[in-house]
Amino acid sequence: MTERTLVLIKPDGVARGYVGEILSRIERKGLTLAAMELRTAPTSVAAEHYAEHEGKPFYPGLLEFITSGPLVAAVVEGPRAIAAFRQLAGSTDPVAAAAPGSIRGDLATETQRNLVHGSDSTESADREIGIWFPELG
Ligand code: PPS
Repeated sequence: MTERTLVLIKPDGVARGYVGEILSRIERKGLTLAAMELRTAPTSVAAEHYAEHEGKPFYPGLLEFITSGPLVAAVVEGPRAIAAFRQLAGSTDPVAAAAPGSIRGDLATETQRNLVHGSDSTESADREIGIWFPELG
């Protein structure tokens, strides 16, 4: 079943020069790009995207980080795209949980600066695509 998922290559991924590496892993998996844009997120967009984490201790730092520089927002599609991209990304904590071979397991060390975001369900994907690419709604 073809699905769409919202992928962010976070500001650390852009700053470290991993856009090509991450897009290459997405394409090698067999997923395709339906939309993509480089932009610096305004705080309003970041706050809407991470609304479920409001009130958590890491929330203010997360907003500051995600708005700190350009990121790549993309809509990625393909069979089981949501789970497929989360498998490519690896778990949130790049050291304690993400498996070697995954983007985070191979390339990151910090839970905040963990290079990528991928939607975690069809409901999240629909919501997040609506935030970043309202024209696709
Ligand atoms: S949790 O603990 O269930 O809220 O974590 P999770 O749903 O996996 O995602 C949390 C997102 O917030 C970012 N972040 C942190 N998470 C946990 N601890 C700390 N200290 C932290 N700092 C930032 C984390 O990178 C997740 O971002 P996304 O973009 O959703 O992967």
